[in-house]
Amino acid sequence: MKNTLSEELLSSLTADTPSISPKFFYDDIGSRLFDVITLLNEYYPTRTEKWIMDAYQGDIAAAVGHCDVLVDLGAGNCAKASRLFETLNPRQYRALDISKEYLEVAVADLQKQFPQIEMSAHAVDLSLPMAFPDIQELDKVFFYPGSSIGNFDPEQADEFFVNLANECHGKGGLLIGVDLVKDVETLNLAYNDSLGVTAAFNLNTLLNVNRLIGSNFQPQDWEHYAFFNTSQSRIEMHLRALKDVQITLPGHKGHDHLISFGAGNLIHTENSYKYTQDHFVEKLRCAGFKDIHCWTDPNKHFLVCFAKT
Ligand code: AVI
Repeated sequence: MKNTLSEELLSSLTADTPSISPKFFYDDIGSRLFDVITLLNEYYPTRTEKWIMDAYQGDIAAAVGHCDVLVDLGAGNCAKASRLFETLNPRQYRALDISKEYLEVAVADLQKQFPQIEMSAHAVDLSLPMAFPDIQELDKVFFYPGSSIGNFDPEQADEFFVNLANECHGKGGLLIGVDLVKDVETLNLAYNDSLGVTAAFNLNTLLNVNRLIGSNFQPQDWEHYAFFNTSQSRIEMHLRALKDVQITLPGHKGHDHLISFGAGNLIHTENSYKYTQDHFVEKLRCAGFKDIHCWTDPNKHFLVCFAKT
């Protein structure tokens, strides 16, 4: 495991555009920092999505219909799914997330509050294809809130949708939240908050990588850099070196790798794509979803869709 991660990071950090996958954000501290981000005034997506889900609860329930299993893709602290329990009344709740420890604690807490729902926690990398053979015949809702889909490249998002459309087997659908294109100032502020929580979230990835593979990044040698790239319709997050640094990545049999970064060099840590409603609905259609319901907020900042095949 450690070797695979070391190789993955060695290759991404020495590529023409050095990068660290956003999956490395979510250790215990990163998951907690992300929870704090969702409370920030500048970070509108979480509260706007909640507003939509609350305001259109009845319409969403009517569109979804019967739900045997709620499959929470990227469950985090499970708060969003738990608010859906009353609306959808599932028999089973299956929580998936990359951060195992954090997820297990959240699901155990939730099980106490909802003993009638059968719950399970699964550590999964959502960028890989998924299969749910045991629930093929059941009415299932794949729940992917929070615009996590925006962290996939558009082509990866298409593959993800095709995978889920196939997994629906004509029974159930996908309930998904996505952030919409809007004025650049609002977008930039959401990823450059005044308390520096997003900066800490970004820098923490270096500590997580150190812990996982034994490298020696010093967060104080780096700064958070995030901006909206209009031509790509995405927020880009990077870490920028504040001075010349040399990083040691421990390799096989004591063969360490040294990587140099000059002052001002960047490590790309995340993309967060923003879609227009029309473009997003078109992507769902292309993947095989036919019956698509959409709800948005009065400012048209965020979109929630339920899509059936
Ligand atoms: C998890 N994901 C949808 C967040 C986003 O907005 O792309 C991650 C995040 N990165 C910085 N702030 C929040």
